[in-house]
Amino acid sequence: MMTKTSFAAFSLGCSLLVLAGCSKSEATKAGPVDETAVASPAVASPAVASPAVERYMPEYTAAGELVLPKKFERWVYMGSPLTPHGLNNGKANFPEFHNVYIQPWAYDEYKKTGVFPEGTILFKELQLTIKGKYPDGSRDEPSGRGYFPGKLNGADVSVKDSKRYADTQNWGYYNFNHGEPKFETAKLRPIGECAQCHIDGAKKDMVWTQFYPRLDQ
Ligand code: HEC
Repeated sequence: MMTKTSFAAFSLGCSLLVLAGCSKSEATKAGPVDETAVASPAVASPAVASPAVERYMPEYTAAGELVLPKKFERWVYMGSPLTPHGLNNGKANFPEFHNVYIQPWAYDEYKKTGVFPEGTILFKELQLTIKGKYPDGSRDEPSGRGYFPGKLNGADVSVKDSKRYADTQNWGYYNFNHGEPKFETAKLRPIGECAQCHIDGAKKDMVWTQFYPRLDQ
């Protein structure tokens, strides 16, 4: 059997060799090979990967504003903290569902190393609830009483880059509107508006991994 580490080493070697085609003989050089692992689609060539799996990195305008990340809705979904207006005096700071996504490649690297790689983007898309008849804004649906996702409502984004955001512990924060449509580009927010609260309360490297079981390792 192949160990997890040798398997990872093989996958890396394999993707580097992809232009030449990753054959079984090349794989054998990396160590003992598990036949089923070689045949598995998990090690298929990136040439067949969907565009969402490409190594999407943050893009900036000439003036240094962050460009609205592309195809974020096809990234890996982490979870949805919920702060309904009905429980926040009608004006939640971040209304209301917070649907959080990470690039697939950054997710894979984090799962291997436990560290968010340079270029990681966490995309938090905001989404309103459908108005309910109860004072807390909740409503009845066939599945039960609760809060149900409605209109999309803008986005907040964080980006990891140890050079660009050295002053705020390697993460930069951007607001792409709390409403639709989302802004096409956004300016870096000052530390007091975003980063400080993340520094003070988030569990791991300024990310609230305590709310995303798949990142809580
Ligand atoms: C008062 C504290 C506080 C402030 C200020 C704050 N955040 Fe957060 N942020 C949180 C909490 C708590 C979560 C996770 C729970 C949630 O989303 O409700 C979070 C989650 C996020 C996430 C999802 C990834 C992660 O780190 O968990 C992003 C992206 C984000 N915030 C961006 C921003 C931006 C941009 C600003 C400034 C405009 C901002 N935040 C200001 C507390 C804060």
